[in-house]
Amino acid sequence: MKRTIELLKDNNLLKIIDEEVDIDLEMAHIAYIEVKQKDSKALLFRNPVSKRLNKKFNTPVLMNVFGSYEATKLIFEKEPDTIAAKIEELLHMKPPRDFWGKLEMLKELFDLKTVFPKRVNSKAQAQEIVKKNIDLFELPILKTWSDDGGAFITMGQVYTQSLDGQKQNLGMYRLQVYDKNRLGMHWQIHKDSAHFFSEYKKAGKKMPVSVAIGGDPLYIWCGQAPMPNGMFELLLYGLIKEKNAILVKSKTNPIYIPSDSDIVIEGWVDPSKEEIEGPFGDHTGYYTLKEPYPVMDVTCITMKKEPVFQATVVGKPPLEDKYMGWATERIFLPLLKTTAPELIDYRMPENGVFHNLILAKMKSCYPGHAKQFMHAFWGVGQMSFVKHAFFVNDDAPELDNYEDISDYICDRVSVDNILISEGVCDALDHASPNACYGGKLGVDCTKDNVRYPKKDILEDKELLDIISSKISDIKSLCQYKTHTKTPICVFGVKKSQNIKEIYEKLKEFKRHLKLLVFVDIDKNDVTNPYMLIWRVVNNIDAKRDIFLQTEYIGIDATNKSKKDGYDREWPDDTDCDQEVLKSLIKRELISNNKELLKYYYV
Ligand SMILES: Cc1cc2nc3c(=O)[nH]c(=O)nc-3n(C[C@H](O)[C@H](O)[C@H](O)COP(=O)(O)O)c2cc1C
Repeated sequence: MKRTIELLKDNNLLKIIDEEVDIDLEMAHIAYIEVKQKDSKALLFRNPVSKRLNKKFNTPVLMNVFGSYEATKLIFEKEPDTIAAKIEELLHMKPPRDFWGKLEMLKELFDLKTVFPKRVNSKAQAQEIVKKNIDLFELPILKTWSDDGGAFITMGQVYTQSLDGQKQNLGMYRLQVYDKNRLGMHWQIHKDSAHFFSEYKKAGKKMPVSVAIGGDPLYIWCGQAPMPNGMFELLLYGLIKEKNAILVKSKTNPIYIPSDSDIVIEGWVDPSKEEIEGPFGDHTGYYTLKEPYPVMDVTCITMKKEPVFQATVVGKPPLEDKYMGWATERIFLPLLKTTAPELIDYRMPENGVFHNLILAKMKSCYPGHAKQFMHAFWGVGQMSFVKHAFFVNDDAPELDNYEDISDYICDRVSVDNILISEGVCDALDHASPNACYGGKLGVDCTKDNVRYPKKDILEDKELLDIISSKISDIKSLCQYKTHTKTPICVFGVKKSQNIKEIYEKLKEFKRHLKLLVFVDIDKNDVTNPYMLIWRVVNNIDAKRDIFLQTEYIGIDATNKSKKDGYDREWPDDTDCDQEVLKSLIKRELISNNKELLKYYYV
């Protein structure tokens, strides 16, 4: 971490904050606003304090390490596309034809020797201090959102191994602090550590777990990388850094952890016990609600002499995970191509909350090719979490040219090109009627075959006047993409009836409307497309909330309740505490940029 701090400082990518800042909300709010700014920087809080614990900490807190494209590239020591090219090369390695080819291949294979993590017995920096008298409250562990169930480790590398000790795993999962020696293990049902856990549970044996914090920041990126089940994420570290990860054994369990970790929390999970975890303000921009999860009994904490505590805050985009996700998206393209060979590129726009929205460009070769890809995506590892996928042909604009690509898509949307299916959902998805299982939307935009007359477009004000006089629930509207074959009209509503009923009533205005999107008037701005995308892809379950009629499509992106046939508890948005914000502005720890705060719904 200290080397990372120097690296960031040398590249003018670090802000040092010497004022006392509270680990409850204050630190997270500062980091939250920082990443939303154009030239955002990593933050080093040198004087963390806690009013709740009546404490000052010696350990500084480092946040937003991946807080910009530049910082992310520095951590990788190269462009993610260069790493992707290397992976692509390895995946396509063919037997050498001649002597020079053999030499080339030998070089490639020699380079691969650095991929495997090395276990060593030497004294590790990570174990300079060994504490058996455990007190997690001695660490500056943040509470990031007001309604969080407590303090959470948000950048913990969770190292586990299979029951037979043959497979290792590194996963990035948040960890709730229950008391001075117990941590909640938030590995969701689909994740590798949850699979290991079920082996231990079946065998009735305690599961060893070590949580590392800090060290090379690339470890934490590897922890969130969607590596295939059974592959140790630190192989990826070796491949990227071209040097082996060096591991040492934990002091009180058999788990190996990076020798340069700043802090390591070791322990055992008793599979017969679970405890309520959460709520926690999550990366969807909503709280994940209380649920039972396994608990680790901490047996030892080791650390460097002068450790740095690494943390992040997740919530409404854009945040630090935007840049981590960008690197993942680029590096995993060649692997995705192995199941979808005609895939040219794909993007997960930052406001699409990763798996909630994906744009993919392909070379469509035969009828139904895009639909074949939808099924392929929905069937591959963590790609199966994808909720909404748009497939475009190789003649489409660049996928990150959002204006042009959305024009292209809007010219190709028709009921015939839409596939609504169902399948596995991310455990964080709140819109699906059942946890972890729900609707999927795939749109095949590879063909320019929409042949309907253009809609008669009215001015927003005129349209609102005629519509709201008939349907009083509609309070505002804004139209987008009116020059395309799929004009979009976003309605801000104060719901007194089911949205499906409003959609049916609006049919009399069908000649002006094609794609109707409904959001609640409260907490949404119909003129802010960035946040509208975020809201819509979060709030809909394709099977329940998309209404399809020829040339007349409705999307109900309002919050749901029992009246809408939704039986789960609808979570709240993650909103900053306004009193904390005021105090931070007053102390000049954040600037009072009203426009930015409003734009990102802070
Ligand atoms: C900031 C951040 C926080 C995350 N928190 C969790 C979490 O609490 N639980 C979880 O299961 N996945 C979480 N993830 C996603 C996992 O890290 C990711 O799915 C990873 O590939 C899991 O590894 P595994 O398949 O080896 O279990 C988080 C990712 C990021 C970027």
